[in-house]
Amino acid sequence: MLALSSLLSLFLLFIPQGAGIGVNYGKRATNLPSPFQVAQFLSQNTIIDRVKIFDSDPTTIKAFANTGLAIDITISNDLIPHLTKASFAQHWVQTNIIPYASRTNISRILVGNEAISTANKSLILGLMPAMQNLHKALVSVARQHKIKVSTAHSLGILSTSVPPSAGKFKDGYDTAVIKPLLSFLKATGSPFMVNAYPFFGFTVDTLDYALFRLNNGVVDNETGHVYANMLDAQLDAVHSAMKRLGFTDIDIVIAETGWPSFGGESEVSVTMDLALDYNKNLIRHVISGIGTPLMSNRTFETYIFELFNEDLKSGPASERNFGLFHADLTPVYDIGILKTEVTPPEKTTVTNSTNPISDNVKQWCIPKLNADKTMLQENIIFACTQVDCHPIQPGGFCFNPDTIHAHAAYAMNEYFRFYGKNSFDCYFGGSGIISTSDPSYGSCKFNS
Ligand SMILES: *[C@@H]1O[C@H](CO)[C@@H](O)[C@H](O)[C@H]1NC(C)=O
Ligand SMILES: *[C@@H]1O[C@H](CO)[C@@H](O)[C@H](O)[C@H]1NC(C)=O
Ligand SMILES: *[C@@H]1O[C@H](CO)[C@@H](O)[C@H](O)[C@H]1NC(C)=O
Ligand SMILES: *[C@@H]1O[C@H](CO)[C@@H](O)[C@H](O)[C@H]1NC(C)=O
Ligand SMILES: *[C@@H]1O[C@H](CO)[C@@H](O)[C@H](O)[C@H]1NC(C)=O
Repeated sequence: MLALSSLLSLFLLFIPQGAGIGVNYGKRATNLPSPFQVAQFLSQNTIIDRVKIFDSDPTTIKAFANTGLAIDITISNDLIPHLTKASFAQHWVQTNIIPYASRTNISRILVGNEAISTANKSLILGLMPAMQNLHKALVSVARQHKIKVSTAHSLGILSTSVPPSAGKFKDGYDTAVIKPLLSFLKATGSPFMVNAYPFFGFTVDTLDYALFRLNNGVVDNETGHVYANMLDAQLDAVHSAMKRLGFTDIDIVIAETGWPSFGGESEVSVTMDLALDYNKNLIRHVISGIGTPLMSNRTFETYIFELFNEDLKSGPASERNFGLFHADLTPVYDIGILKTEVTPPEKTTVTNSTNPISDNVKQWCIPKLNADKTMLQENIIFACTQVDCHPIQPGGFCFNPDTIHAHAAYAMNEYFRFYGKNSFDCYFGGSGIISTSDPSYGSCKFNS
């Protein structure tokens, strides 16, 4: 076993590589770097390990060859009616996938984007046959059977999403379109992909809830579950809608989510600080393994919207400012995804809590008594990449007792405090618990 102090000196990044953090790579922008430069940049300079594109551009697919990054490619809505012909689908796969699939890690083919929400009958009715034809074409080329076929949906396919347990797909679509789609996804091991944006759902009163900040939570009056953030509520609404149709075991992938960093004068709560908060908290939440109230202990593969600001898009200014990077590859703001960067113990945005209990009652995050030692060691390493752990190093005022449990308590509490005391910041894979009694001892003072 490594000594604790040497574990502490290991230099780990905030987000583990392979965590399933992806990014949407849209291209409606001027002066973007070439797809090759983008692919090299993502693989060499960031911990992003998957990318989703809104086209099936061969240059882009080729650019990701041998990078290890997984890529989801999208077939435009226009092609859906054509793909209902098996021969067209076969030809499409032969031309657009087969030549590249041995070098580029093509993970999924997404058929259209939010096609069901277009209200265009030929797209909606064509979607299922198109997906089936593409899947058949892929399996007929034996070695390519790992590529999945799916499609991304807007939350607009739900008629009810509040409370989450009442989640329901729109009447008419539910059994006619969505049910066969879910059967297909289940049979082929593909995920249900959904674009979920708390940004488009919050009000002044629910900003903290949307941003994963400390807040009063929202209760689902049917189940009694308390939702600490809006994304969980959106995902559980989707889960409930699927369950209503008899499907509980299909993975949900967050195909798009994000927060713009700049908006027009009339756009409220569009600032860089809020975008930073949302995306940082988002990542910590989806990889924490805590899951949602109805889907506990799950992680969600997530694609942040988006890689670049897209200045050629229309609509309000915010539409052009969802990007994490400028066209010259410098960060618009930094959510800790750059490989070379050390996440310094900076101050996070001050959260103005509206929760009287959290304001008045002191809270500490400590390990559960029976928590697994290996897990606590990992917690120390993880937390200490984020917060100052000198006090638990030799000579520090919390070094004694030199036990994993005591050191983990200090590190986990610092982490919990540093990120604003969200309950999920004390989850630590189920090994942490929030306590209202002060764990300080001797010279070792715990901050609350
Ligand atoms: C392709 O991407 C998936 C998902 O990230 C990953 O599990 C797999 O190892 C990758 N394959 C290759 C050959 O890089
Ligand atoms: C529906 O979509 C197809 C394919 O994009 C298009 O050709 C057609 O004009 C659309 N129909 C309507 C009514 O918009
Ligand atoms: C929950 O609230 C909804 C809407 O206010 C109401 O229709 C429903 O009856 C409530 N359910 C329970 C169990 O109280
Ligand atoms: C927090 O709330 C107080 C009282 O409502 C207000 O005076 C203060 O400006 C707020 N601080 C921030 C950072 O929003
Ligand atoms: C989730 O993890 C916790 C802690 O490890 C465990 O107690 C619980 O049974 C798990 N829940 C499910 C649904 O697996």
